Amino acid sequence: MDIHTNILSTIGNTPLVELHRTVEGIPAKVLMKVETFNPGHSIKDRMALKMLEDAEARGDLKPGGTIIECTSGNTGMGLAIAGAVKGYKCIFTTSDKQSKEKIDLLKAVGAEVIVCPTNVAPDDPRSYYSVARRLSEQTPNSYWFNQYDNLSNRTAHYESTGPEIWKQTDGKVTHLVVGVGTGGTISGTGRYLKEQNPDVKVWGVDTYGSVFKKFHETGEFDEKEVYPYITEGIGEDIIPKNVDFDIIDYFEKVTDKDGAVMARRLAREEGILLGYSAGSAIAGLHQLKDKLTPDDVVVVVIHDHGSRYVGKIYNDDWMRERGFLDTELRVRDLIARKQKRGFISVEKQESIQQAFTLMKDHDISQLPVMEDGKLVGSLTESDVLSYMLEKMSENGQATVADIMGAPLPMVEDDLAATQLRKYINRQMPAVIATDKAGEHHIITQYDLIQLM
Ligand SMILES: Cc1ncc(COP(=O)(O)O)c(C=O)c1O
Repeated sequence: MDIHTNILSTIGNTPLVELHRTVEGIPAKVLMKVETFNPGHSIKDRMALKMLEDAEARGDLKPGGTIIECTSGNTGMGLAIAGAVKGYKCIFTTSDKQSKEKIDLLKAVGAEVIVCPTNVAPDDPRSYYSVARRLSEQTPNSYWFNQYDNLSNRTAHYESTGPEIWKQTDGKVTHLVVGVGTGGTISGTGRYLKEQNPDVKVWGVDTYGSVFKKFHETGEFDEKEVYPYITEGIGEDIIPKNVDFDIIDYFEKVTDKDGAVMARRLAREEGILLGYSAGSAIAGLHQLKDKLTPDDVVVVVIHDHGSRYVGKIYNDDWMRERGFLDTELRVRDLIARKQKRGFISVEKQESIQQAFTLMKDHDISQLPVMEDGKLVGSLTESDVLSYMLEKMSENGQATVADIMGAPLPMVEDDLAATQLRKYINRQMPAVIATDKAGEHHIITQYDLIQLM
């Protein structure tokens, strides 16, 4: 029988796949080491297992013990898989910028997850590093793996990722391109490849908001380089011990937008559904294309699977909200986003009391006024309220027609949403949009606020 005794021996030996449409314009052959084939769907399974086995061998982790780690998700997944097989409990700290999918996945494999704030200094007691350290001091029979400084991380890639790439390319690899977080992947893989052929170039992909590039080029840890960014998995506000700066020839920074847009292209044009940092790596390679020739064989190591980002880079609304999609948001997109509750309006001859009840029941602040199926006016909650307060004692039977204002402006549903500012303002709280089927929809100030 051709079987694996457990899931852990399926880690590694991932395929190397040539890219085509997404690398048009890059003169070299571009190959991608598709690490999503690992059981935890990321490259981090490799180093998680290595860190765990080394900790066991040193006696740092004993049977029945607790694994503690600060992780953006992927290392946690690798540790949780190994922990499940080997019978360890897992407690992970992560930062609140990580996608919900990643956190839910860690819980799905039995881990306890503590979410910590992103925008605090690493030595702040609330940071995910500090919380992990504290937990390891307080939890008996536990071990904090600390993937940043634990050198088993880069050794895992020296022992497995590097040799695989060398063998798969038959020693023809000329460039290694890798997004850098803890530095384990680039340093271990790069060192192995350079030992085989010192001419192999190793390029790290970094983010805006991270210290790596400047530190590599100047030796200065510049705090001004550190600011919040959206890309996940790469870039740091610390210098992890796993980053071997001597192995890395060059760092290229990629914007949050370019990484996200390229990840989407990889899914649509190559059929490979990958995480954010994979997009950054290919976008970084495009930025460096002038350094390449047709004889070059570039291997880009990608880290994780796109399923962890379905609520983010693969979600059009998320992309648009950050200005990452060039297609402009239209009124019809706003209509589609609104919860469908029908077009609520009032007839001109109805009483003000009826209009008031309608507003209250549906929790709305303005009502279009209709007559014979046509829009003839509008009523705002302040119109109704001032009338009701004034006439409270009179108990009169006035109708909507007595107090209504001009009809709300009408717009086409293909109007750019940004143009709504011409219509919606202090005096005019809403517009009526008509869709292709001729149905009316109200777009209010509230909808615009939701959009922002
Ligand atoms: C999605 C993703 N990309 C890239 C990286 C960077 O890899 P490394 O930590 O080996 O530098 C990580 C690490 O956490 C990651 O999770």
